[in-house]
Amino acid sequence: MDVVEARVASNVRVAAGVFLLKLEGKYSAAPGQFYMVRAWARDPLLSRPLSVFDRDENGISFLYGVRGRGTELLSRLSPGDAVGLTGPLGNGWPQRAGRIALVGGGLGIAPLYYAAKILRNADVYLGFADAPYLVDEFARVAARVLVSSETGAGGTEGVVTDIFRPDGYDACYACGPLPMLAALDRVCRRAEVPLHVSLEARMACGVGACLGCAVRTVHGYARVCRDGPVFPASEVIWDG
Ligand SMILES: Cc1cc2nc3c(=O)[nH]c(=O)nc-3n(C[C@H](O)[C@H](O)[C@H](O)COP(=O)(O)OP(=O)(O)OC[C@H]3O[C@@H](n4cnc5c(N)ncnc54)[C@H](O)[C@@H]3O)c2cc1C
Ligand code: FES
Repeated sequence: MDVVEARVASNVRVAAGVFLLKLEGKYSAAPGQFYMVRAWARDPLLSRPLSVFDRDENGISFLYGVRGRGTELLSRLSPGDAVGLTGPLGNGWPQRAGRIALVGGGLGIAPLYYAAKILRNADVYLGFADAPYLVDEFARVAARVLVSSETGAGGTEGVVTDIFRPDGYDACYACGPLPMLAALDRVCRRAEVPLHVSLEARMACGVGACLGCAVRTVHGYARVCRDGPVFPASEVIWDG
């Protein structure tokens, strides 16, 4: 884990309230890992966790939605501005062989792009609330991209669990709202396809020290920052 100050290469709005932040530098993150990110001195107090969207020899990028003060401050960044990064953190996606499906809902698509790029032959299922974005970017690195949107603004009208069928896959990796992940767990269990989910929790330290990000699993409480954020879905207690 490193603590570094990075420079903004670009910070581009890709949809309403959604930005792609690219930072210069050399990084070692694996797909599914995250960084604690800050672009302010003392207020807000805490850095904000963001998954790695992409990484290459020139830098790293994060796809984020504007939620509150921290992400609003990030959205104001311009090229050349400084950003503090702690990471890479967490365990990332497992390295499995075979046919892999990547399923993302909303900003849950963020940790899937780099995974698709590394896997090379994954099928990607993207679910949006309204108009889809970054679909062409996913299409360049995935075997197949299927899209849903709740408004019918692009792809199939509905939610991503309407377009995903687990049959024929060796594993599925997913990120998105908890009800979506719980629904995927049910269909993947029925099809006997191993499902790994990237969970979100409010984080303070990001490194396993404060227990603020604890979630219930069949083995007891686990820290999303240190034991996750990726967990086998079979271990997650969804109503915990
Ligand atoms: C491991 C991990 C990876 C993440 N990766 C991404 C990513 O790639 N892209 C992205 O857009 N977001 C991601 N998030 C969520 C992101 O960290 C929060 O949206 C961000 O911290 C909000 O900060 P804020 O100051 O803008 O909002 P705040 O003012 O802190 O909160 C605004 C609202 O969002 C809610 N909220 C804040 N953080 C979370 C959270 N972690 N889970 C659920 N609700 C929350 C609050 O309850 C509040 O209602 C990730 C979270 C985790 C734990
Ligand atoms: S955020 Fe402190 S233990 Fe996870």
